[in-house]
Amino acid sequence: MTDAKAEAELLRRTPTGVFIDGAWRDAGNGATFEVQDPATGATLARVANASPRDGMAALSAAHAAQEGWAHTPSRQRSEILRRAFELVRERSEDLALLMTMEMGKPLAESRGEVAYANEFLRWFSEEAPRISGRYAASPDGATRLLVTKRPVGPSLMITPWNFPLAMATRKIAPAVAAGCTMILKPAELTPLTALYFTQLMAEAGLPAGVLNVLPTTDPGGVTGPLISDPRLRKLSFTGSTAVGSRLMAASSQQVLRVSMELGGNAPFIVFEDADMDAAVAGALMAKLRNGGEACVAANRFLVHESVAAEFSARLTEAMASYRVGRGTEADTKLGPLINAAAVAKVRRLVDEAVAAGAVVALGGAALDRPGFFFEPTVLTNVPSHASIAQEEIFGPVAAVQTFSDEREAIAAANSTPFGLVCFVYTRDLSRVLRLAERLETGMLGVNTGVVSNAAAPFGGVKSSGLGREGGFEGIDEYLETVYVAVSDPFLGA
Ligand code: SIN
Repeated sequence: MTDAKAEAELLRRTPTGVFIDGAWRDAGNGATFEVQDPATGATLARVANASPRDGMAALSAAHAAQEGWAHTPSRQRSEILRRAFELVRERSEDLALLMTMEMGKPLAESRGEVAYANEFLRWFSEEAPRISGRYAASPDGATRLLVTKRPVGPSLMITPWNFPLAMATRKIAPAVAAGCTMILKPAELTPLTALYFTQLMAEAGLPAGVLNVLPTTDPGGVTGPLISDPRLRKLSFTGSTAVGSRLMAASSQQVLRVSMELGGNAPFIVFEDADMDAAVAGALMAKLRNGGEACVAANRFLVHESVAAEFSARLTEAMASYRVGRGTEADTKLGPLINAAAVAKVRRLVDEAVAAGAVVALGGAALDRPGFFFEPTVLTNVPSHASIAQEEIFGPVAAVQTFSDEREAIAAANSTPFGLVCFVYTRDLSRVLRLAERLETGMLGVNTGVVSNAAAPFGGVKSSGLGREGGFEGIDEYLETVYVAVSDPFLGA
């Protein structure tokens, strides 16, 4: 089969409806929207465009399923997740190709995301039977204290386009493990991967109503009424800080439990004692994984002044070798950005940095070809007040600044409202411990450019969010703690 035929055949097998109460349907008003290939601008598929009425039907299904699902034995929920893990492994090539087609990242990276996403299914299948409580005597001996956990209840999950599968499984898997029902609203730019995955969850045996999926181009119109409805108990969002804080304000009406994984502005700090080979390799990962379209992407390279010239030269040489192209082509290392607006934003940040005094060591422009491509770019001498040092770049641009001592590096790292992740390169263990105590961050990568791991608590501080996804902490986001005080006259003191 030719590549084009294989892609067309995969699209034919991918569901394009809304998924409510265990069934695929057209949107209530029959509307659809177009999903584009960012490498060509071509239309890949038309997908049902859920309306507010579909939203209400999804919430009614999730609410009706909640009680029965909450009382399903945890072993049963665990086994559904395990079957889903096996199915994702079997269909990983389909999922990876679909992801590359709608999101643009190179196929090798999509395969990496499928494996990463699948680890959340495996991890939380193992966590489901370990939900536990405690039993204790009160200190005065008069009562017994029972502490137990129960599912929060129907949850709304809003996921971004940059990791179309991993950001969904990172929310769905712990919710399934905890016994919550849910409504997923995948990003309108990349709904196909989520829809294909939904079919696998159904094949794995997830009962009707537990997972409902609503692709839509009207996110506010569909999710707003859900957030105000007392049947919803939880909102989990991954996306920008601006949207996250609006959602938090809306969630305060019903005092919803919220988990927010928001924007970042990650510093990547290279100290004078760093292993330079490792620092450059880590910089490539932290900057160019996902084409820079990640909230954990290195946004500011802070490099000690004594090694800045060497680091910048080596990073420039390495980034110059990245071949740009459609993600399905075998030698592509950097795919397109997601859309024209993303290209315009990256171009503005580069232009403003240059106007503020930065020097272009590599690239600096969008590519003149169909699709939404931006050259791998390195800027040196970036002033700390430049907009590129303040805003999330979300593109393949490395912006290098310098510092002269550790105190200055920490102050620079902490100087933004964000605190998702920091990366540091040093061989000095005492320095690592000082940094771990002083950097305002939810995650710290030490001599590594990637921190993401299903077994670890992912999340930020300050304007980067609230709550943690993955690790032992991830399931707690979907559990309430209930305390039962037992006074029994026959127990005695
Ligand atoms: C993100 O950038 O939103 C998540 C990245 C990750 O999980 O590695």
